[in-house]
Amino acid sequence: MEAGRRLLRPFLGFILLLSHVFADYQIVNDKSCDCYLTNGSTGTYFTTHKFYDFRSMSQHVNVPAVLSDPDAAGQADVSNDYFNSQEWTDAWGIQQWNNSANLDSGDASVLMVNSPSNVYFEKNTESGAQSDTFLTLRTVRLEDFQSSAEFESVPKTYHFASARMYARTVGAPGAITAMFTYRKSDDPNKIQEADLEIRTMDPPDVIQYTNQPSYTRTGDGENFQATRNATVPVGWDDWAVHRMDWSPGSTMWYVDGQNVSQIAYQTPRDPSQVIFNSWSDGAQWSGNMSLGSEAYLQIQWIELIFNSTGNEKTTDPNKHRIRGMRGLYSREDTKGCHNICSVDETKEIGTPVLLQGGASQGRAGNLGLWMPVLAAILLMLL
Ligand SMILES: *[C@@H]1O[C@H](CO)[C@@H](O)[C@H](O)[C@H]1NC(C)=O
Ligand SMILES: *[C@@H]1O[C@H](CO)[C@@H](O)[C@H](O)[C@H]1NC(C)=O
Ligand SMILES: *[C@@H]1O[C@H](CO)[C@@H](O)[C@H](O)[C@H]1NC(C)=O
Ligand SMILES: *[C@@H]1O[C@H](CO)[C@@H](O)[C@H](O)[C@H]1NC(C)=O
Ligand SMILES: *[C@@H]1O[C@H](CO)[C@@H](O)[C@H](O)[C@H]1NC(C)=O
Ligand SMILES: *[C@@H]1O[C@H](CO)[C@@H](O)[C@H](O)[C@H]1NC(C)=O
Repeated sequence: MEAGRRLLRPFLGFILLLSHVFADYQIVNDKSCDCYLTNGSTGTYFTTHKFYDFRSMSQHVNVPAVLSDPDAAGQADVSNDYFNSQEWTDAWGIQQWNNSANLDSGDASVLMVNSPSNVYFEKNTESGAQSDTFLTLRTVRLEDFQSSAEFESVPKTYHFASARMYARTVGAPGAITAMFTYRKSDDPNKIQEADLEIRTMDPPDVIQYTNQPSYTRTGDGENFQATRNATVPVGWDDWAVHRMDWSPGSTMWYVDGQNVSQIAYQTPRDPSQVIFNSWSDGAQWSGNMSLGSEAYLQIQWIELIFNSTGNEKTTDPNKHRIRGMRGLYSREDTKGCHNICSVDETKEIGTPVLLQGGASQGRAGNLGLWMPVLAAILLMLL
């Protein structure tokens, strides 16, 4: 009996340790979620969650040759069948527009043509790669033009969102890569836009964040209330989670979970699109790529949590609180939202967990909770 105890004790200790590691929220399907709460200090309850995973697209890998004729580039076909699938076309539209209409009037010095041939999946060949593949948006400077890449969300009705991408930017100076919200207007002063923009001429630890327009209404200078050049903890040339929380009242940006910038001024108010691109127009701000040089935005996944339920998160400390491993979630009681989910607390990126259920706590019934109980009972019995 004694010997048995001595043998079992370290084992039970190990179980207790394991139970701590596994004491997670229950992984659920999006169908089980009435709403989503995000961590961080801004934000609302969101109604919808979408995850676009580009990490296992081996069967769609095809890196098209660079087309040196601007018309051929503009009219190119998509690089693989996946981009014709409903899964993709319901969500995103690969762009073919060019800047010829405003070449003479604006700062642009180079014809820029968006080409479907610059949006493709490629194999992740780096050593210790975290994925089989990723999505690339390529921009290349050619003799007659700048070949560029852009895809825009098909819905133009995102109304507040936490947009995240696991991405990096690599390549030559003189290009811009970006993730942004966009609401079109014919009056440039009425465009609503929240931006994350990487200038490849900048040092890797600098990213520019903006609530557009970033120019004064008279167009004679930069509006320093609208834009920031932030220092980021992980360089843009390394893989990192870039997150932009567009909330009523402010836009807040994070890199790998760290708040890097927050701008309240001119926060977009109305429903918008979400856009990703990689481009240059030879102007002073983007820079002028040298002939033959290339730059890429490479994305392993995109996660969108969007559309506010109208219920604001509360900052009142006396309101009900849920403590997660990755933050404190204060909430008002919400109508019609029994099952509150989180995509921050999950260990399976892209799949939500139940933060708090209508009938029970998210953690209840979980192996992680029962293991220590079991271990304690065994310890008493021995
Ligand atoms: C640029 O766009 C215009 C207007 O859509 C189109 O007529 C023209 O063919 C395009 N040029 C190139 C090089 O794609
Ligand atoms: C966001 O919510 C609005 C209002 O309920 C809805 O019309 C719109 O389709 C939603 N947007 C998306 C992208 O689902
Ligand atoms: C950000 O950096 C760009 C490029 O160096 C510069 O033009 C701009 O004035 C800077 N903006 C702010 C707000 O510092
Ligand atoms: C986020 O960081 C920015 C820049 O350092 C700062 O101005 C802002 O107050 C921070 N916001 C929060 C909620 O911590
Ligand atoms: C960019 O380069 C092109 C040719 O390579 C040149 O025509 C143009 O003037 C340059 N623009 C700037 C702003 O330097
Ligand atoms: C929020 O969750 C993310 C994972 O999505 C994590 O990286 C970050 O550190 C968390 N933030 C806080 C304030 O705990």
